[in-house]
Amino acid sequence: MTGATTIITGIGELMTQDAEQRVLKDAAIVLEDERIAWLGPAANAPAADSRYDAGGRACLPGWVDSHTHLVFAGDRTAEFEARMAGQSYAAGGISVTVDATRRASDEELGSLVAQRVAEAGANGTTYLETKTGYGLNVEEEARSARIAAATADELTFLGAHLVPQGWKADDYVQTVTGPMLSAVRPYVQWADVFCETGAFTPDQSREVLRACRDAGLGLRVHGNQLGPGEGVRLAVEEAAASVDHVNHLELSDIDALAGSWSGWEGDPDSRGTVATCLPACDLSTRQPLAPARQLLDAGVPIALASNCNPGTSYTSSMAFCVATAVLQMGLTVAEAVRAATYGGALALHREQTTDDGGRLAVGSLAVGHRADLQLLDAPSATHLAYRPGMQLTHAVWRAGQRLR
Ligand code: NIG
Repeated sequence: MTGATTIITGIGELMTQDAEQRVLKDAAIVLEDERIAWLGPAANAPAADSRYDAGGRACLPGWVDSHTHLVFAGDRTAEFEARMAGQSYAAGGISVTVDATRRASDEELGSLVAQRVAEAGANGTTYLETKTGYGLNVEEEARSARIAAATADELTFLGAHLVPQGWKADDYVQTVTGPMLSAVRPYVQWADVFCETGAFTPDQSREVLRACRDAGLGLRVHGNQLGPGEGVRLAVEEAAASVDHVNHLELSDIDALAGSWSGWEGDPDSRGTVATCLPACDLSTRQPLAPARQLLDAGVPIALASNCNPGTSYTSSMAFCVATAVLQMGLTVAEAVRAATYGGALALHREQTTDDGGRLAVGSLAVGHRADLQLLDAPSATHLAYRPGMQLTHAVWRAGQRLR
């Protein structure tokens, strides 16, 4: 070891979420600069420059939140209250946030995004994706992308979030795939489309996805959120990295997702489409919970993400998502933690260190992976579901740096 090292000792239970999915008791982990240099039984641990005593607490990978919409101003309390009083969610509320976001200055918007990323970090999220989608014209989408690029780990272009008032859908799609895509391209790695009745049709969605892929972007889809539809099948056909929401699935959707992973042996070139479940959103919109159990049983890798946004899911708490997945969606604690760590990394194509070593794997704890980890104020991860709603984040390291 050549860099500065820190050893965390006294770990009661360490969940690796690596290929072996080990659960080590009485463990220690050594961080060297931004990487994990060693982990294993505390009795065998090497010496290090500094030492942190975990006091018997559980250690997990930091959460990987693969679906958020953090670039916004304003809130939608009134819409939430109306929904709780019985109104159904309609994506039209997006335009309320678009108006508030356009009114915010660069400084305000930048500081709102930074505060939200910091809040997520303090609650154990060490790798985070966010999206544009509340700008909805060329200048505002580019501004959102530029501002978010300063703080988010991964950034997605969601110009195709809603057809703005006063536009014809086909004209708007031409703008999204033309000048808007060119304007955001320097800042983003991914593109997404809201393929749903009331947003974009399957044909329009496909056009957006193909143009974005031709521009070199990875693909994601918002699909099957408010009713059955073509979103999942479109995502699989276009080889999207993930399809998110997945509340209303038919067996053929689950088969298509499972089929996208047939033959996958861990190599990056043959990844399929991850199903990303967003339980906080499902509860807040009173949609049926995504069938996470059925997806896992069919062999579909799933991710759990917060979908933090002002309309359908105003929380970045991944611990809440994990607790809900266990208490309401039939996942074991180990499955839910895996979906919120490794699953998110898989959905972002960050589960492996790149060949040139330039981007370290996140979402699992193994030698050489990025030192992104959290200690819970509890002896085991089971407490995330056993004590739902409690603040259990005790300490967080991101790329070897202490965040909390
Ligand atoms: O993921 N489904 C579309 N987009 C967001 C909601 C956006 C909003 O209502 O502001 C979502 O739930």
